[in-house]
Amino acid sequence: AKRTTDKLRSPICAVLGHVDTGKTKLLDKIRRSHVQDGEAGGITQQIGATYIPTDEIERQTAKVKKGSKFEIKVPGLLVIDTPGHESFSNLRSRGSSLCNMAVLVVDIMHGIEPQTAESLEMLRKRKAPFVIALNKVDRLNGWIRTPNTPIQLALKKQKQPAIQDFETRLDHIKLQFAERGINTELYWKNKNIREYVNIVPTSAHTGEGVPDLLFLLVSLTQKMLAKALAYSEELECTVLEVKEVQGYGTTIDVILTNGTLREGDTIVLGGLEGPIVTTARSLLMPAPLKELRVKNAYVLHKEVRAAQGVKIAGKNLEKAVAGLPLYVAHTPEEEEVYKEEAERLLEDTLNAIKTVEKGVCVQASTLGSLEALLEFLRTEKIPVSAVNIGPVHRRDVTRCTIQLQRDPKYACILAFDVPVDADAKRYAAREGIRIFEADIIYHLEESFRKHMEEVKQ
Ligand code: GTP
Ligand code: MG
Ligand code: NA
Repeated sequence: AKRTTDKLRSPICAVLGHVDTGKTKLLDKIRRSHVQDGEAGGITQQIGATYIPTDEIERQTAKVKKGSKFEIKVPGLLVIDTPGHESFSNLRSRGSSLCNMAVLVVDIMHGIEPQTAESLEMLRKRKAPFVIALNKVDRLNGWIRTPNTPIQLALKKQKQPAIQDFETRLDHIKLQFAERGINTELYWKNKNIREYVNIVPTSAHTGEGVPDLLFLLVSLTQKMLAKALAYSEELECTVLEVKEVQGYGTTIDVILTNGTLREGDTIVLGGLEGPIVTTARSLLMPAPLKELRVKNAYVLHKEVRAAQGVKIAGKNLEKAVAGLPLYVAHTPEEEEVYKEEAERLLEDTLNAIKTVEKGVCVQASTLGSLEALLEFLRTEKIPVSAVNIGPVHRRDVTRCTIQLQRDPKYACILAFDVPVDADAKRYAAREGIRIFEADIIYHLEESFRKHMEEVKQ
């Protein structure tokens, strides 16, 4: 039969859930990668994106769909990994707003946890369909491993203790969801996918249920979202990261949710010192199954169709701000309109950040990580007097020196996931400004606490 892949775009699936439920590991299993091993502190602190092409989905789901008439019509899946740590609710929110379908990952040993509930609320607000992956089944009492096997077959292999443990925990978790007004059912028993949310038990370590998860994502998006996946030329694109890449200079990582990006396009985006208009000099993509946020060998493309994670190289991207939309202008008039739009969005976002006279200065790599850091400091009741995005320079130190008069204990800069240049370091040491650097959000809080203890004495 002739495929209609040229009409559908790839669905975007966001993986959401409480910290350490196994979101990244599940993707590692699908990608045969080791992204989680390389994460600072084993936690995800950025949004990631990976493209899973159809041939790979065909291969991995073959054992599940044996005998069914199922045909894959989407060109592939773009999966978005999100952080589960409580500070990153802004990135979960961004992930859930980018996605067509979500995977809510729940640790079968823990059931619903705070960020499971938070993610659930986000999905409910957006009316986004989702499946529940009940992960870590390999930890069930007496579980017999059957690597990468469809879950029903894996369950048939189990003895009484594992079955008993599985059923008790499953019932309990179904009840927890029911208490939140959500009906759930194991996907192979689910007769009504619009009333009951599918559950698929998985193990990211041994791979049981992982083929089922992929199968479900494709079959559900095709069944429920055919209209939403109709390809549209209208560009929808969000900047995720601004990164230095050897040989390409400063690049931006974007998620293209709709439309087409072409090499040579005039792009407009928000910048720290005003909107940026530049030419997309090269469009780079990681190979299929490679995570966009991890350093990779990139493949050059003349054009890229949604949905994809893309790295764009071009001039003047150093001051780009991540977390905002990117536009393509076809005329000088469009360029003006988009510049205003980009400027307004950034202003609104920065104006929404409340600062006080006496407080620490904070600096982060992206708008997303800045928001996460601020949220974290808010819960820790640490006041903030100034914010900035990007590397710490001398002028950031200068700005902080005012705290020496206002309240010396706040004369410090908390730098999250950004470099501090040598000049700034020297200058800070001379002026008595402390700079705390960390690539894990809660380590900043630890160093700051220690500092507060010291200044008290
Ligand atoms: P955050 O991104 O930090 O929210 O965590 P995450 O949900 O991505 O979880 P991650 O993949 O980092 O896994 C957390 C821990 O659980 C790691 O130590 C994994 O090895 C372990 N883990 C993940 N999945 C499984 C699983 O299926 N079985 C077992 N036994 N351990 C798992
Ligand atoms: Mg993770
Ligand atoms: Na983790």
